[in-house]
Amino acid sequence: MVLYAQLILHNMMCACVLILCVARRSFSSYPAYCLLGLDTRSLSESLASREIRKEKEIGDGALENDSGGESTVTITVVGASGDLAKKKIFPALFALFYEGCLPKHFTVYGYARSKMTNEELRTMISRTLTCRIDQRENCGDKIEKFLQRCFYQSGQYNSEEDFSRLDKALKEHEGIRLANRLFYLSIPPDIFIEVARCASLRTSSSKGWTRVIVEKPFGRDSESSAELTRGLKNYLTEEQIYRIDHYLGKELVENMSVLRFSNLVFEPLWSRQYIRNVQLIFSEDFGTEGRGGYFDNYGIIRDIMQNHLLQILALFAMEPPVSLDAEDMRNEKVKVLRSMRPLKLEDVVVGQYKSHYKGGIKYPGYTDDKTVPRNSITPTFAAAALFIDNARWDGIPFLMKAGKALHSRRTEIRVQFRHVPGHLFKRSFGMDLDHATNELVIRVQPDEAIYLKINNKVPGLGMRLDRSNLNLLYSDRYSREIPDAYERLLLDAIEGERRLFIRSDELDAAWSLFTPLLKDLEEKKVAPELYPYGSRGPVGAYYLAAKHNVRWGDLGAETQNT
Ligand code: BG6
Repeated sequence: MVLYAQLILHNMMCACVLILCVARRSFSSYPAYCLLGLDTRSLSESLASREIRKEKEIGDGALENDSGGESTVTITVVGASGDLAKKKIFPALFALFYEGCLPKHFTVYGYARSKMTNEELRTMISRTLTCRIDQRENCGDKIEKFLQRCFYQSGQYNSEEDFSRLDKALKEHEGIRLANRLFYLSIPPDIFIEVARCASLRTSSSKGWTRVIVEKPFGRDSESSAELTRGLKNYLTEEQIYRIDHYLGKELVENMSVLRFSNLVFEPLWSRQYIRNVQLIFSEDFGTEGRGGYFDNYGIIRDIMQNHLLQILALFAMEPPVSLDAEDMRNEKVKVLRSMRPLKLEDVVVGQYKSHYKGGIKYPGYTDDKTVPRNSITPTFAAAALFIDNARWDGIPFLMKAGKALHSRRTEIRVQFRHVPGHLFKRSFGMDLDHATNELVIRVQPDEAIYLKINNKVPGLGMRLDRSNLNLLYSDRYSREIPDAYERLLLDAIEGERRLFIRSDELDAAWSLFTPLLKDLEEKKVAPELYPYGSRGPVGAYYLAAKHNVRWGDLGAETQNT
């Protein structure tokens, strides 16, 4: 009996030691302000902690730092006068400040070649800052307080001396606090490595962390991407590199795992057994106006498909991860990508928009853009059929469609389910069973929604069926404004949460799928099918889908919920 009691006591002590060790390990890698009131560090808790932190907000929209105010974060936006910085990064930082999500001690630095004073930077930034629609109180005040934390340093992108000057300036703000530094490279990719070199050699934090966010394009193909990765890794570890795909920060993309793995009704259906095809659709109702110089070098396949749509596909199709931790999630995504067949020419249709007159207005063609060569054959539209050769998805077409200057702006995932076997109600639907099958639509934007098309009996004495939607429209259900993708991603980078960033093997796998196709298209100079500005894209996309027995779900969709 005594022996038995001793054994229990011994086991309890071992368990306590183990728990303490695990807790210590998980705490040590996160800044203190992420840990308020939490005693373990898993992803869901980290996300929950954002809510908790807000409740603990003090003063100026800042947070009490429970390490006694000893650490500080500086976010340096390299390429501060560029479009992305002005339109997305500074506004996202302000929104985080406004919501009380930034640590108490933070500084924002703009770095670029042009000469500018702090005041000029502040004026420039203030033009694009907006307050949340649902929380306008003290907006002017908050903007003022945020701007007081913003500074500017001019310098060349390849000058170690200039980065040393930046280092000196940062140190003045950081004082004796533990300095953490985040660099956002909002610059063309051909200078990523130079900036990474200068920043890592001259502007790394000596005691705190240093992280670098890079934004696509990560190369133009497998080789150039691998070269970029090698170049960055000469100066940074993989753990320091945060590769952004801003679609991963979109609310409905993030929700995909919740939808799949927390609802019993979906996961059992999530396979070739019940799903007929999956469609990933991206369309914009404007052209490349103003961005032709960049776009012509990349085209829609590199701009949208190889990253945004492929990332969504990987999240959609992956196996359930062991946990929601970054490495477990990314391992599953890589497995899906590596199970996919590289694309061939016959799997793809490419198009380019041409000018079009409508209502007395002339909408310009792609090659009318002054920054685009007149004879450019760069695709502004592409449709593709992809296949995942694994047990779950064998034979199921994943169709992608992405285009600029189309009739509407939308990004959605459409899941078409199989026909009901031995359909009792066949007579009500006639021969076209496609009209009677269930379809799940995840509308990423605009008007975020998830809806399921079901067959329903029209109320009355007869037996007439129609198709109706079970509709979760976010604006009806939730009163909070949806944060911009950059807000989530910046906050994650500050918190060291890597789940929504692309790992280098993921990037390699993504390029392996598209590189042979891109080479073929370019070597064979495949001419894109022209489509009028504002149309539904080239007819070839419909034939491609038909070849795989698929009908695009957005076909004929005039209203939002079709
Ligand atoms: C970018 C592309 O990654 O995403 C652009 O380079 C595209 O061409 C943009 O317009 C779309 O992003 P969003 O968030 O506006 O849908």
